[in-house]
Amino acid sequence: MRLLAVLILFVITVTPAHAAPRIVGGEVVDDAGEVPWMVALTTSSGHQFCGGALLGPGQVVTAAHCVDDRTPGSITVVGGRLDLRTDGGSTSVAASYELVEGYSTPSRGKDIALLTLAEPMPYRTLPVAAAGVHMNGSVGVVYGWGRQAENDTDKSPLLHKAYVPIMADEQCAATYARYDAQAMFCAGYPDGGIDACIDDSGGPFVVGGRLAGIVSWGIGCARPNAPGVYTRVTTYLNAAS
Ligand code: ARG
Repeated sequence: MRLLAVLILFVITVTPAHAAPRIVGGEVVDDAGEVPWMVALTTSSGHQFCGGALLGPGQVVTAAHCVDDRTPGSITVVGGRLDLRTDGGSTSVAASYELVEGYSTPSRGKDIALLTLAEPMPYRTLPVAAAGVHMNGSVGVVYGWGRQAENDTDKSPLLHKAYVPIMADEQCAATYARYDAQAMFCAGYPDGGIDACIDDSGGPFVVGGRLAGIVSWGIGCARPNAPGVYTRVTTYLNAAS
């Protein structure tokens, strides 16, 4: 009995925190070289509320819904920092941002914004996927500092990532009446379990080392038959030739 109790205690205490589900069902990113272009959007007091990616030294792509109710000067972009408890990397407020004409709400599409930074950042930027890139069935990587479960209240300060396959448009349309294949794509598993979640919005969905999607919306997080919905970046941005 005593041995069993000790054993249970051992298992509880030595199960490393990073073995627990992250993003939802993901893992900690511990190599900064994998994500030089990853940025966090924070308030001036350092509270993280969205993700984003550097497209140019002074240009960040994120979701429109991350910024549309904020003034540029109230958005502090943090680059070069995986652990948000540290003060590594660099920060800059946004000098301005641009939305796509006609954006209203994520479920109607156009959920993308370009921020211009007051101070450019010295990190490698993320190339945009080429138009017509093969998407359906491809596995992408989504990155963020968001919740690790739908009802999680304390988030991890460490960047997480998860691998999720892109679903066929028909499958997505069968789940979401508002699905618009030109503006969006969805990614996830029929059984759920792995997904982006609250505060991952605006973060990049990367296919083959290129930006293909932006975390936009979903129903809850990682639920069965409720894939995450991403902005289809190739509809709004051109790949540099
Ligand atoms: N809208 C959420 C945010 O603002 C992100 C939702 C993504 N949800 C999902 N199940 N993939 O952070």
